[in-house]
Amino acid sequence: MPSEKPFLQSLSGVSQTIPPIWLMRQAGRYLPEYRALRAEAGDFKTMVYTPRYATEVTLQPIRRFGFDAAILFSDILTIPEALGRSVTFGKDHGPQLEPLKNVADLKENFSHLDPVYEAVTSIRSALDNEGFTSTTLIGFAGAPWTVACYMVDGGGSKEFSSTRTMAYARETEFQDLIDQITDITCAYLAAQIRAGAEAVQIFDSWAGLLPEDQFWKWVIAPTKKIVTYLKHHHEGIPIIGFPRQAGSFYPDYVRETGVTAVGLDTQLSPSWAAEHIQKHCPVQGNLDPFALMAGGDALDRAVDEITSAFRGRPYIFNLGHGVHKDTPPDHVAQLVKRVRHV
Ligand code: CP3
Repeated sequence: MPSEKPFLQSLSGVSQTIPPIWLMRQAGRYLPEYRALRAEAGDFKTMVYTPRYATEVTLQPIRRFGFDAAILFSDILTIPEALGRSVTFGKDHGPQLEPLKNVADLKENFSHLDPVYEAVTSIRSALDNEGFTSTTLIGFAGAPWTVACYMVDGGGSKEFSSTRTMAYARETEFQDLIDQITDITCAYLAAQIRAGAEAVQIFDSWAGLLPEDQFWKWVIAPTKKIVTYLKHHHEGIPIIGFPRQAGSFYPDYVRETGVTAVGLDTQLSPSWAAEHIQKHCPVQGNLDPFALMAGGDALDRAVDEITSAFRGRPYIFNLGHGVHKDTPPDHVAQLVKRVRHV
């Protein structure tokens, strides 16, 4: 029987008058209850690897806003750790990794990821116990290209020059790195699905850095492998790809990777995306996080522009990138009301 959960309905191609809604980074520092729990836990990684904390944080925005989907509280940088790399999250700067000099230095420790699956199972039962039975649980991973950017450059330089140079200068070794990340990511997402994830999202935050031939090699090819693997082992599992800032390559990405649905970043025009992407698969997006930060009439207008462009075909309302930490929670409540016409 097809699911009656609104989020899964959209992913299966059913268009709805009121679109399902969730937000990337819906659990995070903009919520006072998140900041309180983070203070109790001491740091971000403790929250990620302690199923009790990960469960509580995942539920926080669901209790407040009643989103149609909950996303596992974790991070894309669990994978570098499972490949033996050290990762630290500083208080107010991005993540820091020891830059990878030789791919031969990787040492896989798959059991490092065990607490993540435990968290997935615990979140699913907490959702059910609290009555959120129509809320879908999303698992996720970073796409191989984006994870490689952090592993090779070692942190959020946002230029990732070592990675982008290595991809040309040491192509065979870089391919080996991408292949290792791809393999572990297939196993990681499959294990999240076995633990209770009902859909998965693949975050390729830095897909927009690449020219066409590189985009095909490092974004499309590995993502296609992951999608093929998951469809083979878990028939019917919906997979959302998010090739952020892929611009004119979005249609190629959708066609070639076989993703079920695609996340749109803020820079894609909704009317262009309706014509060139949504005709082929459900879309998710793409409100500017700064319209959400602003609130008021500007927020309402930005929401209406998106809902009117995507109305009539399946879509999921979301932001074009994560919730900014300085966003007033009241604006999120306003957004949900506007999308649901209440
Ligand atoms: O609510 C959710 O979306 C689920 C949890 C989630 C986090 N990170 C929690 C987090 C998800 C899905 C991610 C994905 C992620 N992590 C991406 C892809 C999406 C994107 O934002 O482009 C990337 C690139 C990362 C790597 C990462 N983790 C960065 C760059 C940072 C620092 C920036 C920041 O916002 O602090 C993190 C830390 C991080 N991941 C936080 C959270 C809630 C902040 C931790 C804190 O200080 O409490």
